[in-house]
Amino acid sequence: MKVAIGSDHGGVNIKEEIKQLMTEMGIEFEDVGCDCTESVDYPDYALPVAEQVASGQVDRGILVCGTGIGMSIAANKVKGVRCALVHDLFSAKATREHNDSNVLAMGERVIGPGLAREIAKVWLETEYEGGRHERRVSKIREYEK
Ligand code: RB5
Repeated sequence: MKVAIGSDHGGVNIKEEIKQLMTEMGIEFEDVGCDCTESVDYPDYALPVAEQVASGQVDRGILVCGTGIGMSIAANKVKGVRCALVHDLFSAKATREHNDSNVLAMGERVIGPGLAREIAKVWLETEYEGGRHERRVSKIREYEK
């Protein structure tokens, strides 16, 4: 699996935490930035990550900003992206099993690095269940055409 990861200034610490996690898990990743603590604009990181996922360049994307909301709104504008804003372990598992979410968004001003790490681990490890869920996900795909 290859993952593209990005954050704005509000999410850079959790981004580093998740990069550390992916290194430990042996997951290949590309960091699209940001690298700094000065103020930047979240769509400049959400859209490149989402486009890499939509084009198949990477399998999944992870985005972090202050709330995760801006990142998820921007990422979900890209056709083929199903970005889930997640701040609990139940949703991390359920959104993979039911929605086949291919981008995960989190907010660093909402949760700490420990929970973010656990959420990302569960999200990265959980498989899509397909079955009855595929009918629902395919309705989203049809709408996008
Ligand atoms: C930046 O101040 C903040 O607006 C951003 O990180 C994010 O929370 C937007 O949704």
